[in-house]
Amino acid sequence: MYSRAFFGRGYQTGSTTDSGRLGIREIRGRTNARLGRRTKNRIQSGSSRRPGPVNVDDKRVINGETDINQLAPFKYPWAWEYFMNANKNHWTPLDVNMAQDVHDYHHRLTAPEKHVYENVLAYLTTSDILAMRNIGLAVMEKMSAPELQIYQARQVYEEAMHTWAYQHCIETLNLDQSEIYNRYRVVPAINGKIQIANRRLDAAMRPDMNLRNKDDLQEFIMSYLFFAAVFEGTWFYNGFSPIFALQRRGLMRGTGEQLQYILRDEAMHFSFGLKVVNQIVEEENITFDPKAVREMWDESEAAEKAYANYILRDPILGYSADYHSEQFRFVANRRARTVGLEEPFPGAKNVSPWLDEQATLRKEKNFFETRVIEYQTGAQLEW
Ligand SMILES: [Fe+2]
Ligand SMILES: [Fe+2]
Repeated sequence: MYSRAFFGRGYQTGSTTDSGRLGIREIRGRTNARLGRRTKNRIQSGSSRRPGPVNVDDKRVINGETDINQLAPFKYPWAWEYFMNANKNHWTPLDVNMAQDVHDYHHRLTAPEKHVYENVLAYLTTSDILAMRNIGLAVMEKMSAPELQIYQARQVYEEAMHTWAYQHCIETLNLDQSEIYNRYRVVPAINGKIQIANRRLDAAMRPDMNLRNKDDLQEFIMSYLFFAAVFEGTWFYNGFSPIFALQRRGLMRGTGEQLQYILRDEAMHFSFGLKVVNQIVEEENITFDPKAVREMWDESEAAEKAYANYILRDPILGYSADYHSEQFRFVANRRARTVGLEEPFPGAKNVSPWLDEQATLRKEKNFFETRVIEYQTGAQLEW
């Protein structure tokens, strides 16, 4: 419930219409009266005793009943580590020099390469918004340990920044924004992937979902598994490759670098997500339904194949649709193993071994060497 309030859906306690008509003092008076009523209720329900500290063993990923506002003691110290590490990776799209990309796009890319570039961006722009909504609206509210929510809050921010990065590329290249943002609706091969994700997200956002109910729990865990293992762990992880293929040939290097920073974030997102899935499975004693898992992989593979065949209908130098689909299957096997599932595509080959290198980008680039604009540490005021 907490994050619903945080994100606005639950923030309707009756004062929204009042605030338009009442003065601040009156609103305060009403709020105090309401708080007073709540305190009274608590006293009546016998919980007026001074509460003791949270017992770490009582914390749970979901369905926990400890105080969500008390961070320590940590039950999941690794979640706090993820938060610390994510903050070491800070970057913004403005850190990357895009000047060469403008020239490359207009003078060096072939028509099939432009087709690849634009459609990958068209897919990613929508996908990152979906990723943000999933973690912020469907997942975070169900977590009952704050250390998990804190990393997820950072993740929400990072997804928003990824959207900014795509928008920055689209703006810099002066692409037709309304056309490119609308592609996911009119291109069936892009729409197919978005539809699958939307369906999983809607399932996890059902307002009457009760995680103490076995069927609802299965639905939620399958949605979370899909977003961590497929959506971020495979579709995203593998999804930047066509542009990396250009980058490796010295084309669209600014965009390639933006995507490397995004991929580094995404590698943490799916790894965290899969860790949380494993933890829920253990705590809630869940067994995955093999049929549902098989369907998830098959559906995701079919959608990825259709997408690859569309964006790479004409192969580009060093990259093809078959290459893309095979790498999807190889990465999917890895994600499955992480959550103790059998490999969905046995024998799939690692045809893009360079992809892992792209994700484990260690260097922090020298700001002042690569930035095209002056460094700003805050808003500048004009008087
Ligand atoms: Fe993202
Ligand atoms: Fe992500």
